[in-house]
Amino acid sequence: MSFIFGRVSATLESGKNMLRFTEFSKVLLDKTEGALVPITPLRREHKPQILKHLYAMSMHDRYLRFGYTATDGHIDRYVAGLKFQRDEIYGIFNSALEIIAMAHLAIMKEEGRQASAEFGVSVSAYARGRGYGALLFQRAVMHARNEEVYQMFIHALSENAPMIRIARKAGAKIERDGSETEAFLSLPRRDLDSRVSEFVADQYGKTNYSIKEDAKRFWNFLAKVQEIRTGVRHARHQAAE
Ligand SMILES: CC(C)(COP(=O)(O)OP(=O)(O)OC[C@H]1O[C@@H](n2cnc3c(N)ncnc32)[C@H](O)[C@@H]1OP(=O)(O)O)[C@@H](O)C(=O)NCCC(=O)NCCS
Repeated sequence: MSFIFGRVSATLESGKNMLRFTEFSKVLLDKTEGALVPITPLRREHKPQILKHLYAMSMHDRYLRFGYTATDGHIDRYVAGLKFQRDEIYGIFNSALEIIAMAHLAIMKEEGRQASAEFGVSVSAYARGRGYGALLFQRAVMHARNEEVYQMFIHALSENAPMIRIARKAGAKIERDGSETEAFLSLPRRDLDSRVSEFVADQYGKTNYSIKEDAKRFWNFLAKVQEIRTGVRHARHQAAE
């Protein structure tokens, strides 16, 4: 029994760590306390949702995200080229299973060179300021560490105050060059905590996603039943006339 209690409290502790992820996000923990935000690793099947999320971005947001005013065609090519095996792509979904925030951690590993990763993120305009951008960043940091990638960088436009704030709060070195800013972050070595936390975070994200899928299926089923009932009622009225 004490083994089970031990496991339960270890799992709860890992759950708490999921919010904290790394020691630099204590402030965020206060902001999101009591609200576990499920972050789901995205797969090829999510491409339609990824496209929908990116198409919905304004031209200015596309400029901030990609460094140029990406057209729908650019977005098509970007999504077609996503490397789900090599990189990590994460999403935060609403109950309709639409992506409201996503992040892309591009991992670069080359023979004879220190591995590094580049982080990019977008949050739907209406969902900003809730800490999603920072949470996705911390999720990416945890994965990079566990992949033994200890250098992460973010390319942002100097006007992009929220992105620079996220990177600065994480302890990144910020180098500003006119309208462009590069943020470099050295990550701590991976440890048991980072590995257990990632495992728990993944399970939580996947479970939450499948619950939302079931709920969506159920509501679609109810809508179909309602449609059939309306059809039958309508047919009865017509037959009675
Ligand atoms: C950058 C972006 C991802 C931030 O997402 P978000 O979910 O709103 O960010 P968060 O809620 O985690 O907030 C991050 C921090 O920025 C701060 N912030 C938000 N808006 C700000 C502003 N206009 N000026 C200064 N700081 C700001 C927040 O207060 C928060 O800091 P805090 O934790 O100390 O309170 C979002 O604005 C976005 O999608 N922009 C378009 C795409 C983009 O710029 N991507 C980044 C380039 S890769």
